[in-house]
Amino acid sequence: MTDLALIDELMTLVEPGKVLTDAASLDAYGKDWTKHFAPAPSAIVFPKSIEQVQAIVRWANQHKVALVPSGGRTGLSAAAVAANGEVVVAFDYMNQILDFNEFDRSVVCQPGVITQQLQDFAEAKGLYYPVDFASAGSSQIGGNIGTNAGGIKVIRYGMTRNWVAGLKVVTGKGDVLELNKDLIKNATGYDLRQLFIGAEGTLGFVVEATMRLDRAPNNLTAMVLGTPDFDSIMPVLHAFRARLDLTAFEFFSDKALAKIMGRGDVPAPFATDCPFYVLLEFEASNEEVANDALATFEHCVEQGWVLDGVMSQSEQQLQNLWKLREFISETISHWTPYKNDISVTVSKVPAFLKDIDAIVADNYPDFEVVWYGHIGDGNLHLNILKPQNLSKDEFFAKCATVNKWVFETVEKYNGSISAEHGVGMTKRDYLTYSRSPVEIEYMKAVKAAFDPNGIMNPGKIFAVE
Ligand code: MLT
Ligand code: ZN
Repeated sequence: MTDLALIDELMTLVEPGKVLTDAASLDAYGKDWTKHFAPAPSAIVFPKSIEQVQAIVRWANQHKVALVPSGGRTGLSAAAVAANGEVVVAFDYMNQILDFNEFDRSVVCQPGVITQQLQDFAEAKGLYYPVDFASAGSSQIGGNIGTNAGGIKVIRYGMTRNWVAGLKVVTGKGDVLELNKDLIKNATGYDLRQLFIGAEGTLGFVVEATMRLDRAPNNLTAMVLGTPDFDSIMPVLHAFRARLDLTAFEFFSDKALAKIMGRGDVPAPFATDCPFYVLLEFEASNEEVANDALATFEHCVEQGWVLDGVMSQSEQQLQNLWKLREFISETISHWTPYKNDISVTVSKVPAFLKDIDAIVADNYPDFEVVWYGHIGDGNLHLNILKPQNLSKDEFFAKCATVNKWVFETVEKYNGSISAEHGVGMTKRDYLTYSRSPVEIEYMKAVKAAFDPNGIMNPGKIFAVE
C-alpha cells in the first residue's frame, strides 16, 4: 500500500476530520518541549474511544506503522517526538472525567484530561490531586502516567505512580487490559499496571486511568530562605524535616532568581543577595506548627546555614513565592538550555553535589549554569544556557561531551540519569549509566511481550535494533 492509501485507510477508523496531515499540525503535534529533533510525523490521528484506539493499533500492526502517543507534549526528553514519519496518536478528544467515587476517593479519567482539570475537579469535591508541576496547565494525565511525572510535591506525596489506582490500556498487540481494577489490596501476581507507568508509551496506550485523591491540605505555607552556599542546603532540610511534615523542599541558585527577576512580574523574596535559595512548604494547620517553623528558621540562622528568609502570610504571598521556583523552567527556555535531570538518594546529595559542581566548574567555565530542583528528593536540574554566539547544534554537541563526566558521577553514586523527565530519545544513549545491560535485556523482553512488532513509540528508551 502506498503511504497515501495507508492514511486513507486510517481515516476510516476514526470520525471524519480526525486525521490531520497539514504542515502546521505535523509540526505542532510532532514535538514536545525539547529542541533536539525536528518533527516529521506522517499524520496525526485523534481517536475518540477505546475501540478507535484499538482499531488504530491493529491497523499499525498490520502495516508495520510506528505510533507515537501524544498528550500535552510538555515532555523534556523527546519521548513524544515523532521525527521519523510516525503516526502521532493524540488524545485531545478523549479528555473527559468519566466518574468520581467519594468513598474510594477516586476519579476515572480519559488520558487527555489536563492535570489542572483533575486538580480543579478534586478541589471542587473538597479533595486534592497532589501531583503538581509548572506545566500542569497543559500536561495530560496519559502523559503524566507515561513518564511517571514527579514535580514539586514528591517529598510528601510521591510520584504519579502513587496515585494510579487502575488503568485500562490497549497493548501494542491491540489487546485491551484492565489493570488492577482500582483495588488498594490485590495480591494476584505481577502488577502490570506498574509496567505501563513510566513506560513512555513503548508498551501500549493508556486509554483510561483511575486516579486517587487525597484530603485537601490545610493552610499551606511557604518559606523562602537564602543560604550562603550549597553545603548549607541539606542541613536546612534535615532541621526542618525533624520538626515539620514538609510538602515541598526545592532549591534554586542566584542565577535562576536573576532570570526570574528579569521578567519584572514576580516580587523579590527579600533584599539580601544569596548564592542559593530554598523554598519549603508545610501545612500550618495551627499556630504551634507555624511557631515550630519560625523556631527552626532561627536555629538555621544561628548555625549559619541561612542568611535571610520570608514566610508567606497569605494565599497571594504563597503563590508569589512559588512563582520564584515554578517560573524558572519556562523563563530560561528562551536560552535553549541543555537540561539535566539527575538524582541520588538524599543522604548522598552533599558528596554528589561537590563532585558535580567541580565538573561543572571545570567543563563549563564559559557557560551560564542555572541550578534548581527538588533537592528534598535528591533531584537536581542542572541547566546550561546557550551562549548567543554558538549554534544550537554546536552547543548541544559541547554539552554532550560533558555528559560523560556527569553520568559517570551519577553511576558512581548509584543515581539516576533521569529522575523525572524520562529517557525518551535525549537520554537513551546513556541508559547504561543507570541500568545494567542484563536489566536492559529484561526490559526489552517486556517490551517484546506487549509490542512484538515494535510499533509503539520505537526509538524511545532504547534505540531501534
Ligand atoms: C522543574 O522542576 O521545573 C521541571 O522539572 C522542569 C525543568 O526541569 O525545567
Ligand atoms: Zn522538576
